[in-house]
Amino acid sequence: MMSWAAHTDPSQTLAFIAWTRDGIANGTDVVWAIEVDGRAVGTIGLDGIQFAMRAWRVDSAELGYWIAPPLHGRGLMTEAAQAVMRFGFDTLGLHKITVGCFAENVASRRVIEKLGFRPIGRREDDVWRDGRWWSVLRYELTTSEWSDASTTMRVSKPRLA
Ligand SMILES: CC(C)(COP(=O)(O)OP(=O)(O)OC[C@H]1O[C@@H](n2cnc3c(N)ncnc32)[C@H](O)[C@@H]1OP(=O)(O)O)[C@@H](O)C(=O)NCCC(=O)NCCS
Repeated sequence: MMSWAAHTDPSQTLAFIAWTRDGIANGTDVVWAIEVDGRAVGTIGLDGIQFAMRAWRVDSAELGYWIAPPLHGRGLMTEAAQAVMRFGFDTLGLHKITVGCFAENVASRRVIEKLGFRPIGRREDDVWRDGRWWSVLRYELTTSEWSDASTTMRVSKPRLA
């Protein structure tokens, strides 16, 4: 479901870590390790961070994530993504975060829905992998939509007596 293949050698992981450092240094990508009980079990990041495109302001980035199968279904990615989106909007000052998943990726689709992303369409036969074309669902969320969602979440929490 990811754009990369599972690492088969530690050198590939080291190259990935070097790439994340370059991304932070260049201001184009920021990637976090997800840590559970002291072990790195996944990553989440904002890629393609872009503020200007010639005369346009775009202030956008793409959310991406994965977590090891034994930890699926515990709400960890939804929690991690909420923290990363808060960082993107509040700390980086992004205006929009985009995300996409294979149409068959039910778990990722559910995470995206829980985060409040707005669907913007389906790219038919968008990428080739494992001997077939996969269609991709695309979503986005602007800072005002995020504010609405975070306000609703705050208000919906139980109040202290
Ligand atoms: C997608 C992924 C990150 C989700 O991580 P996670 O920590 O399990 O996510 P959460 O627990 O926060 O939420 C998963 C939701 O999907 C639901 N779900 C998972 N598998 C499902 C299935 N087969 N059918 C229906 N719902 C499913 C869970 O029930 C949960 O929803 P709920 O809270 O309403 O019950 C994880 O499955 C993963 O790393 N997959 C492989 C990599 C990948 O696909 N990355 C995303 C690329 S776009």
